[in-house]
Amino acid sequence: IAQKDYKLWLQYDKTTNAALASEYKNQLQGIVSLGNSETSKISLKELETGLFNMLENKPEVFPEIKGENKIIVGSKSSLTSEIQKAVGSDFDKINEEGFIIKSISLKNKKHILITAKNDIGVLYGVYNFLRLLQTNKSIQNLNIIEAPKTNIRILNHWDNLDRTVERGYAGFSLWNWQKLPDFIDQRYIDYARANASVGINGTVLTNVNANALILTPQYLEKVEALANVFRPYGIKVYLTARFSAPIEIGGLKTADPKDVDVANWWKNKAAEIYKRIPDFGGFLVKANSEGQPGPQNYGRDHVDGANMLADAVAPFGGVIMWRAFVYSEHDVNDRAKQAYAEFQPYDGKFKDNVIVQVKNGAIDFQPREPFHPLFGAMPKTPLMMEFQITQEYLGFSTHLVYLPKLYQEVLESDTYQKGKGSLVAKVVDGTLDQHKLTGIAGVSNIGNDLNWTGHPFAQANWYGFGRLAWDPYLDSETIADEWLRCTFSNNENFIKPIKEMMMQSREAVVNYMTPLGLHHIMDTGHHYGPGPWVSNLSRPEWNPVYYHKADKNGIGFDRSKTGTNATAQYASEVEKIFDNPATCPEKDLLWFHHVSWDYKLKNGQTLWNGMALKYQEGVDQVKEMQNIWNRTKPYVDAERFKEVEMLLNIQYKESKWWRDACLLYFQQFSGKELPKGVEKPN
Ligand code: GCU
Repeated sequence: IAQKDYKLWLQYDKTTNAALASEYKNQLQGIVSLGNSETSKISLKELETGLFNMLENKPEVFPEIKGENKIIVGSKSSLTSEIQKAVGSDFDKINEEGFIIKSISLKNKKHILITAKNDIGVLYGVYNFLRLLQTNKSIQNLNIIEAPKTNIRILNHWDNLDRTVERGYAGFSLWNWQKLPDFIDQRYIDYARANASVGINGTVLTNVNANALILTPQYLEKVEALANVFRPYGIKVYLTARFSAPIEIGGLKTADPKDVDVANWWKNKAAEIYKRIPDFGGFLVKANSEGQPGPQNYGRDHVDGANMLADAVAPFGGVIMWRAFVYSEHDVNDRAKQAYAEFQPYDGKFKDNVIVQVKNGAIDFQPREPFHPLFGAMPKTPLMMEFQITQEYLGFSTHLVYLPKLYQEVLESDTYQKGKGSLVAKVVDGTLDQHKLTGIAGVSNIGNDLNWTGHPFAQANWYGFGRLAWDPYLDSETIADEWLRCTFSNNENFIKPIKEMMMQSREAVVNYMTPLGLHHIMDTGHHYGPGPWVSNLSRPEWNPVYYHKADKNGIGFDRSKTGTNATAQYASEVEKIFDNPATCPEKDLLWFHHVSWDYKLKNGQTLWNGMALKYQEGVDQVKEMQNIWNRTKPYVDAERFKEVEMLLNIQYKESKWWRDACLLYFQQFSGKELPKGVEKPN
């Protein structure tokens, strides 16, 4: 049943546009494959599969160029000098993972060349080329020169060794540890292929709340097997390192990073791993955060911890991705300020192979957060972005929310740290402060569900994450367009409305969950559904009431000068804007300010009425998503149509649940009637 779903964006449906099909067939009269590596074989197979499915004839494969209209694939070193000449200086414009797709003329015969410095670049070029066909683009006069703008484009799997997935809503973990290393599930290969097709080049296999067992030989043997599967697809394996591992599996009495035995234990562990996996990527570490062990347990700091691990992997070219997701129950004044307060002073103190991984916002993957104040504030330290692809706070895999819209909003935020134009994207791609080590991580939404991600549209979030990791300046609407064409159909009657539906889906979830800057009012623990009333958790900053601070005077968290002064963590230009309710964007108003129920919004509504209308708008938007979806029935296969239809029904029901629960709860404080236009809860 789920066969279409399983194929993700690599459907390779038949090209139905007759003119295009004949253009493609004319220009693609066989493949000349010049490489011999495993990766080259994958490139060839992918081209054969793609062309066979889209054009319905099996392309002939030639070892050398004959005749005309061939598609030539091979890395630089495999090209004849004549072809190299045709490429000219384009090789200088790409990095080790970039590619070139070019219409060339050899002895007056036209061909299409896909080349790169390395075989993996060629593979990326092949996927890009197939995407041209999948999205019905012309392939005449091609001249595409592309290279990824970040080095580490990585999924973070929060997968436990018992195959449960923390915040995973698409079944169990893909990694079948019990059957590894000898049993290689076809899904590992399909997973690698899907990732390579969007340029993802790394995967952290294990949960940030780490289990030290993964570092034992029994497990490393299994990790090695996965690394062997992923390698030809250009994907490096990384692991999470539990800071207390030297005690738990090493028999030491301490995990103090300044202890020589501890440092040596990690050095030996790294050597052991690299012996098995020579291209092992390195470690991702969550330390002294939410109860995880870390250097502070021994009176040391994050720099001591990260640098000790960095020394262990440095001889092998490994990196340490050290997370900045820290907050403590001992300083409950404002959780949003803690990561900056703790990490900013460490700027410049980390070793060269450490990159600090920062969540997109200062709290925790909310439907909307202002960009994290650390971006741009640590110019001497490489920072990488951590987005969440799994929808922990956005309706799990039940609600349709197109996340690249959220990612784009963050990436194009201006930090002003080096004046106007200091975009978060420039921090991430290293251009703002000239960093060579760069990266973007996405907390994976993948599980062993037949459709990988639980919701068919959640596949777009995996896809879009990969595309934005490759190029953080891409437009989310373009990505949605591509994804829809590759996944469903090129029919404009389908594309246009569904693209609009996707594009408004993120704002819809903000409206029916947390409009106007509200945040973290989801029910406790699981974070599904509303829970603004929750106030009894042991740690104050886990309670929703801590975040909305509703009382009879109004609602919102005062993070301005008159409150916690979190605004001062931003560059002065940004601080000024956020600090004043009149200039603070209304979408962030209650994030930064506690305002009265009668506060006048820009549209003239009082805060109470405006907020209620936003909740209603969210519900209406979901209704509209349903209407749009229902009209697409002729263009979608029955299974996927039905699945999305059922999911949208749930989403609609739950958007009303959110609206009613939040408005009834907040109404106790506002003491006001619901405005006209807002449906009364029943
Ligand atoms: C959130 C999430 C946890 C996760 C943590 C993290 O708090 O709820 O499950 O472990 O983020 O990112 O480390």
